[in-house]
Amino acid sequence: MKPTSVIDISGLRKGFGGKTVLDGIDLSVPACTVFALLGPNGAGKTTLINILSTLTAPDAGTARVAGYDVRSEKNAVKRSISLTGQFAAVDEGLTAEENLRMISRLCGLTKEEAVSRTRELLKQFDLETNAKKLVKTYSGGMRRRLDLAVSLVVERPILFLDEPTTGLDTISRRTLWNAVLDLKRRGVTIFLTTQYLEEAEQLADTIAVLAGGRIVALGTAAELKARVGLERIELRNEEDELIRSVPTDGSIEDIHRTLGELLPTVPPTIRIAITKPSMDDVFISLTATSAQTMTEKEGVSL
Ligand SMILES: Nc1ncnc2c1ncn2[C@@H]1O[C@H](COP(=O)(O)OP(=O)(O)OP(=O)(O)O)[C@@H](O)[C@H]1O
Ligand SMILES: [Mg+2]
Repeated sequence: MKPTSVIDISGLRKGFGGKTVLDGIDLSVPACTVFALLGPNGAGKTTLINILSTLTAPDAGTARVAGYDVRSEKNAVKRSISLTGQFAAVDEGLTAEENLRMISRLCGLTKEEAVSRTRELLKQFDLETNAKKLVKTYSGGMRRRLDLAVSLVVERPILFLDEPTTGLDTISRRTLWNAVLDLKRRGVTIFLTTQYLEEAEQLADTIAVLAGGRIVALGTAAELKARVGLERIELRNEEDELIRSVPTDGSIEDIHRTLGELLPTVPPTIRIAITKPSMDDVFISLTATSAQTMTEKEGVSL
């Protein structure tokens, strides 16, 4: 059975001042999954999140979020989503506790509920000891954690996180990852952007790579790696120095044949490893191809 999708995007286009940023995006995100959007700086990730959260209108195409059209049913979309933007949006002149209580009250919680929700979130994001300090005295990572806590005051069916862990240390990043996986278990769909490929690999059920205005790759981390096909047979000497590195498709036949050719040419003490591409290799390979296509396209239109 096909899973129900909660975000459906078709032929979406957006440009600024004659410059095309999104050049026909088609995507659908299944309910209760984590979807990660990767792409180099300026690829249009924030623009896409802004369109899906009704902050920016698309030029063409359609996008439905929780079944509602982002253009004609803005309020219904807003009621279905939470958003943590790329840049902090908390009030710097208040403390973390005051910010959380204020947002809780704005979201319709009673005074008692606001107090208890604030306490839970301060604990979850390790902000308890600094809860009564003004946000303007916070470090970048503390602000980011507060920003995330604010977006989780009320649980909505869909959560957008624009680069949620940029600037966070390893422990805070893990806290956020756990929070995301916990929300997923509770049935929330999470759409996030990230610069960290490891993050996408750890968290996401589906990864999309945005480059040159289009989705250039879509799939699980393993599928993207297989598509790039950068598996290699490596031969190292006793000092662990790489002496040969040969591409392979990973099949037994290919490994058998390649080793048959290589082994008679190397000393018997050699060590063999089969390496898979890292997500960094995958990202560079996919976005480099699309950058080339974009340059060719621009060349034609000149
Ligand atoms: N309001 C705007 N007016 C004009 N240009 C804009 C506007 N918003 C975005 N852009 C341009 O659109 C392109 C995509 O920007 P966007 O912020 O969506 O990229 P991004 O993928 O989020 O990048 P980053 O990784 O740096 O956050 C950039 O070239 C940017 O300069
Ligand atoms: Mg951005």
